Amino acid sequence: MAPTILFLLLSSLFISTSVVGLKQHHDDGFISVVISDKGLDFAKDFLIEQAIASIVPSQLPDIEKKVKVPLVGKAQVVLSEIIIKGIQINTSSVNIGESGIVLVVSGATADLTMNWRYNARTSLVPIGISDSGTATVKAEDLLVGLTVNLKNQEGTLKLILLDYGCHVGDLSIKLSGGAAWLYQVLIDAFEGNIASAVEEAISKKIREGIAQFDTLLQSLPKTVSFDKTALLNVSFVDNPVLTNSSIELEINGLFTGRSKVLVPQTYYRGSEISVPRGSPRMIEISVHENVLNSASSVYFTAGSMQWIVDEIPDQALLNTAEWRFIVPQLYEQYPNADMNLNVSVSSPPVIQVTDKDVKGSIILDIIINVLEAGEVIPVACISVNISASIDVEIARSNIVGRLELDEFSIYLKWSKIGKLHIQTIQSLVSNVLKTVLIPFLNSELKKGITLPMVNGFGLENAGILYAHPWIMVYSDVAFLNHSYLTQKLAYDTLYKPFISFL
Ligand SMILES: *[C@@H]1O[C@H](CO)[C@@H](O)[C@H](O)[C@H]1NC(C)=O
Ligand SMILES: *[C@@H]1O[C@H](CO)[C@@H](O)[C@H](O)[C@H]1NC(C)=O
Ligand SMILES: *[C@@H]1O[C@H](CO)[C@@H](O)[C@H](O)[C@H]1NC(C)=O
Ligand SMILES: *[C@@H]1O[C@H](CO)[C@@H](O)[C@H](O)[C@H]1NC(C)=O
Ligand SMILES: *[C@@H]1O[C@H](CO)[C@@H](O)[C@H](O)[C@H]1NC(C)=O
Ligand SMILES: *[C@@H]1O[C@H](CO)[C@@H](O)[C@H](O)[C@H]1NC(C)=O
Repeated sequence: MAPTILFLLLSSLFISTSVVGLKQHHDDGFISVVISDKGLDFAKDFLIEQAIASIVPSQLPDIEKKVKVPLVGKAQVVLSEIIIKGIQINTSSVNIGESGIVLVVSGATADLTMNWRYNARTSLVPIGISDSGTATVKAEDLLVGLTVNLKNQEGTLKLILLDYGCHVGDLSIKLSGGAAWLYQVLIDAFEGNIASAVEEAISKKIREGIAQFDTLLQSLPKTVSFDKTALLNVSFVDNPVLTNSSIELEINGLFTGRSKVLVPQTYYRGSEISVPRGSPRMIEISVHENVLNSASSVYFTAGSMQWIVDEIPDQALLNTAEWRFIVPQLYEQYPNADMNLNVSVSSPPVIQVTDKDVKGSIILDIIINVLEAGEVIPVACISVNISASIDVEIARSNIVGRLELDEFSIYLKWSKIGKLHIQTIQSLVSNVLKTVLIPFLNSELKKGITLPMVNGFGLENAGILYAHPWIMVYSDVAFLNHSYLTQKLAYDTLYKPFISFL
């Protein structure tokens, strides 16, 4: 165990001075997740708590030995029911080093209980003597360390345990009953065995824990179904980048259609994230505007951007009678007929993240239909070019948005009812936009998207920054209820919050 410990100590000394990992350029990573050292510290405390919960209580294998004791003779001593009852941790640290992420726990104490029994026989006294009882053991000055690294394995993360070790610094034993010689025997002959049993038990838990965590990471899907139309590609891109103060993970992050016929578009990531970073938070999630554009393209191609509007607050506008004086020819051809509007998006909406907000521009075709004698008769088509800005903010645990109409322009595409003066329909379009479309979109946006948060975890001090073409959410994470969390499935704890955030 000694070389391992030495290695750990050395690596924890050297890490702070070396700059690790060359900054790679991830061409197809459109979502970036940065876990700061503050976030790592939080994760460390959580993991240590989980580890202790998995170790306490645990039973070590029995230890049995024949020892020669002066006056007593040959004694067969058996230690059984050796149980780790508790672990207290004094200090722990996590650092990112050249070789990986190094976690060190030092000055820990483990409390154990055990049963002892012996049989002894001397050449002087032919009858054997035997006795049994209990003892408590304190393993002090425990040093536990491990180094792990994360590698990308075909889009999922692989957790590799590079090195680990556990060393018991000091052991004290307290016998209940028993002879003085037994105490000496336990100290002389068994101390090493007990210490290595503790070391081995903890090392084994580290191996198992890391293997479990790795299985969990590997089981994360590479695409997540968003709804019946879209999939989100959550494959990891390239290896995680370790710097001296953060871990940066890149995720493809683009939406693709479920339907096979959709040809995936090519997106470019362009400039690196350059957000002025104020006081560091535990996690920062940056989303490239192309994530939004890929969604826009998928939904457009799937034909889901089309609506029939037959109810508006000023319902009278949807009857030719209301247009009697403005568009007389419409009323003449279809007197007192109801109308509806077939609104469809004519090209994928373009979304741009600026340095202040999110801008969207969308071109709608509005076909005016007249409903007469059970027939739908298209009479005119207006094209509307709308620019809007969306202000995104975090309200409690939700990301909410508010859309504001910046400007819109309209032109007549075609008409079967003669020439229409655009001013005459401007009021209809404006009415539909202001009383139907924008309020509808705002009510959707107001519902918000729940931030990465599970029952048990919550966000604190969350904020949003815009840095063209990136939008970034930064936040701290806090335990709210972690007894619940430990029972949650991997998907819920690691994945769902992330997805629902998007
Ligand atoms: C981390 O590396 C940067 C350079 O990349 C350096 O400026 C900074 O001082 C380093 N921090 C520590 C704690 O070593
Ligand atoms: C915990 O660690 C600190 C600093 O390493 C030391 O001063 C203190 O005595 C330790 N406490 C215990 C209970 O070991
Ligand atoms: C998902 O992203 C990865 C990494 O960019 C890429 O290799 C893979 O082809 C993508 N999958 C789909 C279904 O687009
Ligand atoms: C709405 O208009 C589009 C063309 O812009 C057309 O393909 C679609 O069938 C129309 N929908 C209805 C219900 O009339
Ligand atoms: C739509 O309007 C925006 C801004 O007003 C303009 O930049 C864009 O070129 C227009 N698009 C079309 C197709 O007219
Ligand atoms: C933690 O969550 C569990 C399961 O939802 C719940 O039963 C328990 O009351 C919660 N505890 C606290 C302190 O909120």
